[in-house]
Amino acid sequence: MSDSYDTPDQRNLLDQTAQGVIGQPLDRPEGALKACGQATYAAEHDLTNCAEGVLVGATIGCGRVVRIHRDEVLAMPGVLAIYADQAMLRRNAQGTAGEAPIQDVTTVDYYGQPVALVVAESFEQATAAAKALRVDYDVTTDADFDPAAVEYEPSEEADELGDLDRAMDEAAFSIDRTFTTEAHNSAAMEPHASIADWDGRKLTLYGSFQMLKYNVKELADSLGVAEKNVRILSPYIGGGFGSKLGISHDAVSAALAARELGRPVRVTLTRQQVFETITRRSETRQRLRLACDRQGRLTGIGHEAWVTNLPDEGFAEPVTQATKFLYAGQNRRLALSIGRVQLTTAGSVRAPGEAVGMQVLEAAMDEMAEAAGIDPIEFRKRNLPAELPGEGLPYSSRMLTEALDRGARSFGWDQRHQQPCQRREGEWWIGMGVASAARVNILSKAEARVTLRADGGVLVESDQTDLGTGSYAILGQIAAEMLGVPIDRTDVALGDSDLPAGAGSGGSWGATSTGSAVFRACEAIRATLAHKLSVDVDELRLKDGLANDRPVTELLDKDLVETGRIEPGKTMKDYSQASYGAFFCEAAVNAFTGETRIRRMTGAFGFGRVLNAKTARSQCLGGMVWGIGSALTEAMEFDHRTGRLMTHDLAEYHVPVHRDVPAIEVILLEERDTVASPLQAKGVGELGICGAAGAVANAIYNACGVRLHSFPMTPDKLV
Ligand code: MOS
Repeated sequence: MSDSYDTPDQRNLLDQTAQGVIGQPLDRPEGALKACGQATYAAEHDLTNCAEGVLVGATIGCGRVVRIHRDEVLAMPGVLAIYADQAMLRRNAQGTAGEAPIQDVTTVDYYGQPVALVVAESFEQATAAAKALRVDYDVTTDADFDPAAVEYEPSEEADELGDLDRAMDEAAFSIDRTFTTEAHNSAAMEPHASIADWDGRKLTLYGSFQMLKYNVKELADSLGVAEKNVRILSPYIGGGFGSKLGISHDAVSAALAARELGRPVRVTLTRQQVFETITRRSETRQRLRLACDRQGRLTGIGHEAWVTNLPDEGFAEPVTQATKFLYAGQNRRLALSIGRVQLTTAGSVRAPGEAVGMQVLEAAMDEMAEAAGIDPIEFRKRNLPAELPGEGLPYSSRMLTEALDRGARSFGWDQRHQQPCQRREGEWWIGMGVASAARVNILSKAEARVTLRADGGVLVESDQTDLGTGSYAILGQIAAEMLGVPIDRTDVALGDSDLPAGAGSGGSWGATSTGSAVFRACEAIRATLAHKLSVDVDELRLKDGLANDRPVTELLDKDLVETGRIEPGKTMKDYSQASYGAFFCEAAVNAFTGETRIRRMTGAFGFGRVLNAKTARSQCLGGMVWGIGSALTEAMEFDHRTGRLMTHDLAEYHVPVHRDVPAIEVILLEERDTVASPLQAKGVGELGICGAAGAVANAIYNACGVRLHSFPMTPDKLV
């Protein structure tokens, strides 16, 4: 069988297997370890003679390092070394194509950029020395720190169809609105950290990363060593959200310092350093133009976005990604422009593109539905295209109508007042809003090894990572289901770059892609078992360690080991693939203070086969919580005179806390998508954030009658 997935696998094998474990809401096997402090995170490995490194961040926003006053600090107690003159302090890479962008360390591109690493015997000594280190700078006085004040240029050719200007002129109803969203930080619970340990020419790095096969490349490239001499261990990760797709300064500086000193070195970032140095989601400006006819059928969609990044960085937040496939309208213009500012590198943050693109599109759709006098759910349903606009590709599967209907029923949408300001309870205006969810689906190259042991147990191995998203649970479930082995006899080993290269955790592809590789390895084992039983593979019945009623151990004189592989193929090109859903929100807005409290939320999602109902639900919940943050509080606020990030920790960058999050209902729809993967599953990891903030914005309007075009919708904007 070819590795690439070219022809939809129509067998739906996982619906015919008998173990009954696939899709079940099983606990994550590493969950208890994490909750009990028994999962060893990157910084927690206890290596003998480990020195401690602390990074020193630039206190200017743009310029050059002229002098580092090392001698004063080298004399401090416990200080071992100061590294500042090597190419060790690079921009954190993007996790794309395994490149680690090289940066001249004497140049300061953004405030807080690491300019030196101080290494000492203890963390306290290193911290004191890092604080005392004086650095002289040559400051660039005309640097650009303000996204509102720079020039933008197209980052790609605009995607145009028909004549949008004309459609706007001739429309029965139209809107033309410009929205803004603020920069976001991933703010993963576990700050970035690395411990480097060299054994001769071979480096072992304990780190916290999403994409080990690329991270090894990046690190080897940064260090100038062969990939085979780099091993990364990342078995437990405390969240990533894109911030650990690529390596960051902690990894490279720890590795270089450890090599120089001839002993292990640990470098951990503080929360403030995470905010200042790890990739941000770009702030955006987005112009939405929508035009429709008297029947409420869209005739035109314009979505133009302006985003920023550092000079020379390749990434541009793909804001209009879902607008391309979501709604009809024969006249279209999608465009993305980029401006260059000296702020932290912009990169992938959970659901790059859709997270902020969908919240704005869905807020605009609400305004358009109102202008056309149509219920916003009906308006969306009326505008789902039969095929991908402009390209004529079929949709692999799309449960958007079902998600809107199921969600509406469960939420009680019929209780909503069509006009705003109709429901008041004491000081509070109450309103309801809806938004669609959509996120592109991607199958990614992956490899996994499965062993059916002679004792009847199963081992799944891959360098696939688990951010807390459920990889350990899901990959075990797929193997247990396919091989008819109880889940408690199924072990999963992940997060070691020496294991077969999985797809990594990113872009919602981890479970489906690495899961497909596991599936294929298990298919090969099934074929062997069938052969041993002299039956056709279709007649094979595996359950609870029995193969056609015989103990499978009787068939095995040694371990059966197979490696499964998958690569994206023709199915990726021939279909438009996305996961879909719908959000419903009830918000209360204080008539006097402008404070918004979310009272309830419902989300309904269709993403192909559900591989584990608990981990899928958790992903959806987490995304919706971020939607609340994105709608109401989260903003990286920079001082535009200096480039300094003002909201550089969780005291000032406000993520929703428990009190801000109401009961959230998650409905998982049953769906099979044979085009997306042999598992008939699509991605769900990022779907829950893609549009959620739009439902909040629409509920705020329905509550109090104020249409804001600026996220987050803080009280000062609402009163
Ligand atoms: Mo995701 S932002 O691709 O980890």
